[in-house]
Amino acid sequence: MERNRWYKDMVFYQIWPRSFKDGNGDGMGDLLGVYEKLDYIKSLGCDGIWFSPIYPSPGADCGYDIADYMDIAPEFGGMDAFRKVLEGAHERGMKILMDLVVNHTSDEHEWFQLSRQRIEPYTDYYIWRPDPGNGKLPNNWDSFFEGKAWTWDPVREEYYLHLFAVKQPDLNMDNPLVREEVKKILRFWLDMGVDGFREDVITYISKKEGLPNDYIMPASKGMPHYNHGPHVHEYLAEFKADVLDHYDCFTLAEAPLVSPKKALSYIDEKNGQMDMMIQFQCVTADCLLTDYIPLPFSLRKLKKAFSSWQYTLKGKAWNMLYLENHDHPRIVSRYGSEQFREESAKTLAAALLFQQGTPFIYQGQEIGMTNWRPSDPGEYRDVQTIYNYEHTALNKTPQQRLERLWRCSRDNARTPVQWSSEKNAGFTTADTTWISVNPNYPRINVADQEQDPDSVLNFYRKAIHLRKKLSCVRYGTYKEYQKHSGKLYLYSMRDDRQRILVVCSFSKKNLKWKAPRDFYLGGAELILGNYNTTVENILQPYECRVYLWK
Ligand code: NOJ
Repeated sequence: MERNRWYKDMVFYQIWPRSFKDGNGDGMGDLLGVYEKLDYIKSLGCDGIWFSPIYPSPGADCGYDIADYMDIAPEFGGMDAFRKVLEGAHERGMKILMDLVVNHTSDEHEWFQLSRQRIEPYTDYYIWRPDPGNGKLPNNWDSFFEGKAWTWDPVREEYYLHLFAVKQPDLNMDNPLVREEVKKILRFWLDMGVDGFREDVITYISKKEGLPNDYIMPASKGMPHYNHGPHVHEYLAEFKADVLDHYDCFTLAEAPLVSPKKALSYIDEKNGQMDMMIQFQCVTADCLLTDYIPLPFSLRKLKKAFSSWQYTLKGKAWNMLYLENHDHPRIVSRYGSEQFREESAKTLAAALLFQQGTPFIYQGQEIGMTNWRPSDPGEYRDVQTIYNYEHTALNKTPQQRLERLWRCSRDNARTPVQWSSEKNAGFTTADTTWISVNPNYPRINVADQEQDPDSVLNFYRKAIHLRKKLSCVRYGTYKEYQKHSGKLYLYSMRDDRQRILVVCSFSKKNLKWKAPRDFYLGGAELILGNYNTTVENILQPYECRVYLWK
């Protein structure tokens, strides 16, 4: 089937279900809650939802450890609730994207339970290795979340590989039976009517033969031997030819450490195996590869990330645009300023939303939610965060280690969405929530922002509305100006009908600026901004403007 690229005209909203909205009063988000909020999501101008995993799971990694790929977790409302949401979304013209996590399963998945007992045909579904003896492990790779990448299984009496948590054993994708299972999963959801998949760490699914020791990269040992591994393109092409090509759907590849050039080998519209890519460069402008190696925010680094993807993919592949998801702290606290929260949240929105690609907005981003700073480390829920606190930087004081989490933890983005100033932010009717609510909810919440025409929420609405109206944004050409500035992000989009200039200050002080030579502001219409009064050549703190020429 010739691919119908409807996703190019869309804006997606990411739901991380545990913390979106509780519909049944148990203190945890669920699909009933999502159903209640479909009109809200639509009102933002979003026409699609990406669900982080909602399958049955013991929850070792908040659902990214799947115990059954073909069901919906009872705590989220089960299959009936899902069908209701799917139908409700489709009635509103919205698409649904599921999270496909097939680099690994939960250790509680039936396949793993059978594999550890060497019951056929599951024996080789995972990556097992015998004990090399002398207290050694099969190789020197590290996991991302919990120490070494190997754990001993007393039942099978072998080690299994897990690139993430101990409870997330890696599947052996070289086994054709495992690939058939993946295809069954894809067909199951597509036949039910879902519209596509976000594919979790999909560039890791093929490991180098022999699983060699890694002497290349000291941090994240092992990655060069499984990221973009030897058969990854072949396996993805197989999924596409055997399943995806037969449906009107699209796929989004999560790809850590990928350059835009490399991305083309996956998502080139002529011969790629997938449609869009979640790259990490735009979310690492204040750290070295991972949030746990923080650096001062560099606007130049962010601009370079934005521009290189815009330039390299132009005419060849389609960008996925984002600044937030469930794996990184809140963007206002990182790239913006909590002091200028509203202004910087809006500038960040303008910086992102007028580029070419399909934007993804993460729950709470649209109201400018900020990082969370609990005083008790026992409040954290994320496996990576807890391991980090307990096992790293042990030369620091507990308070210093805690403050590190305030900056680095994924739980910053996982506190409940702040719906109102009522108890528990209107997220639930229960007395307690599965993770604490950020105490700033009386000040930052949806209900208040609904009433305020100048709120961050209404800014997102306006910006999305404009982006959809402007052909130059979706199909025009991007150009960046003054790229050496560490305070100003300036870019234009143009097609043969119109052009816009997007001006974003990342300065806490007034900033002088000048439009590029062929942009005469006298002839332009100011179609969006975050201050009511403006001075042409001076930008106020975190001011943003979008000018249009027709
Ligand atoms: C990427 C997901 O976004 C993250 O939340 C998860 O922990 C890892 N992959 C492992 O599945």
